[in-house]
Amino acid sequence: MSSTVYLNGDWIAPEHAKVSVFDRGFLFADGIYEVVPVYSGKPFLLELHLARLYRSLREITITVADDAFWHELVRDLIERNNYGDANGLIYIQVTRGAEASRAHLPGNSLTPTVFATISPLAIHWDQPAPARVTLLEDIRWLRCDIKSISLLGNILLKQQAASVGAVEPILHRDGLITEGASSNFFAVHNGELFTAPKNHLILPGISRDWVIELAHEAGIRVHEEPFKVADLPQLDELFLTSSSREVQPIGQIDDIIIADGQCGPVTAILIEAFHASKRRLLNSRR
Ligand code: PDD
Repeated sequence: MSSTVYLNGDWIAPEHAKVSVFDRGFLFADGIYEVVPVYSGKPFLLELHLARLYRSLREITITVADDAFWHELVRDLIERNNYGDANGLIYIQVTRGAEASRAHLPGNSLTPTVFATISPLAIHWDQPAPARVTLLEDIRWLRCDIKSISLLGNILLKQQAASVGAVEPILHRDGLITEGASSNFFAVHNGELFTAPKNHLILPGISRDWVIELAHEAGIRVHEEPFKVADLPQLDELFLTSSSREVQPIGQIDDIIIADGQCGPVTAILIEAFHASKRRLLNSRR
């Protein structure tokens, strides 16, 4: 947990950080967020995370500060919480702000609420054990490309997955796989990589894009195209990506055992490439 969090220009102890009950984030989940991993005090793929933050803000028509503000915020979060040599996850949330009373349509002159905190992140250098996932219908809204704080759909799906002992629900809409409830989803078939295209049905994951980049570098062909639930039993390997999981192999999806329940060879290459990119960051100058 952070020893100090950022709230609307102040650095304060978490227990003293308070927002109005009329904040539109509290009343309507009217806001967006961003999550940035930090390895040994260095933010990983920061420019890509900030670009997605700006996009989310633009999509919901909130204007907040400039590039320099966000860079300074990230630097201060790390320094003020003594994460100079530690691994962490930065959480940034921006809501449309507080009003005098509850009304669906926001007023024009609101001051956005900006909150940021950092918490410990366990990073690994090994091959994670293959996970068990479950297939569920994607019940979320149709703007999953916005990193909205409105996560009720995701939460219900996560609860349903946990109730059958799965670590993540894999979601499908109209017979096509979209993503996980807090991760992107990849499949390997005949040595080639498949993942859903970037559109309104998935979050444009930063780790997703990074893994695609790493696959290109490793000479692995990538197809960003929808694939069918019905094709799952034929696929050779499956894995998830996210800022906290990095690359997580899948060993079982409901009753289907994938890659003999092991981490497949293409997934292993990508896990190693991901580790290598972390090592490059750690060896770079601050
Ligand atoms: N979740 N898809 C969804 C729905 C997500 O919530 C996330 C990340 C991802 C992966 O995105 P990225 O690679 O940029 O982390 C995909 C974050 C970590 C969260 O909700 O905390």
